[in-house]
Amino acid sequence: MSDDEMDGLCVRECERCPELVESRSQIVNGVGPDDADLVFLGEAPGANEDEQGEPFVGRSGSVLDDALRDVGLARSDVRITNCVRCRPPENRDPTKTELGNCRGYLERELELLDPDLVVTLGKVPSEHLLDRSVAVTKEAGDVVDVRLGERLQRVLICVHPAATLYDRSQRDTFSDTIARAADLSGLADSADGQSSLGDF
Ligand code: URA
Repeated sequence: MSDDEMDGLCVRECERCPELVESRSQIVNGVGPDDADLVFLGEAPGANEDEQGEPFVGRSGSVLDDALRDVGLARSDVRITNCVRCRPPENRDPTKTELGNCRGYLERELELLDPDLVVTLGKVPSEHLLDRSVAVTKEAGDVVDVRLGERLQRVLICVHPAATLYDRSQRDTFSDTIARAADLSGLADSADGQSSLGDF
């Protein structure tokens, strides 16, 4: 897959998935620093994301924002992106073909970012990067090195933030994994530094 349609980290035009071209109102690219150490990877945009053109801006996004805040991080400290950049109809899971069509864009984005850590939010992104079936609730918090093209990428498996909304028992798993992500990417230290400076 070429990255011809990409402008830096973003896809400006793409018509590879006919059903998604029909169902999207826009392409939803990742947001956050173009040198982010920590990347959160979701599945695909939902209705809110499709409308606003930004990943994780609905209820799942609020859960993610709150968990980041709890470890001293802001949404703007990290990059947030999806495996598939266009909203699937009726929020169905993206098909294997759609995931494959968007794969080159994701690999290119990660190659340019070269982050310390990618956190996979839920089953679809975890299985997409690990290329095997993943029992996300059991494996949450596990770190795996994954080959992406020429690179070895460190990946941390996490439950989807939406899981915490319908299953309270997932809340600790989610927040513990976010704390581990901050730690592994070295961002926990800078967050500590910021809050202690704020005490003065
Ligand atoms: N869920 C996802 O997987 N991605 C989003 O952008 C929003 C919700």
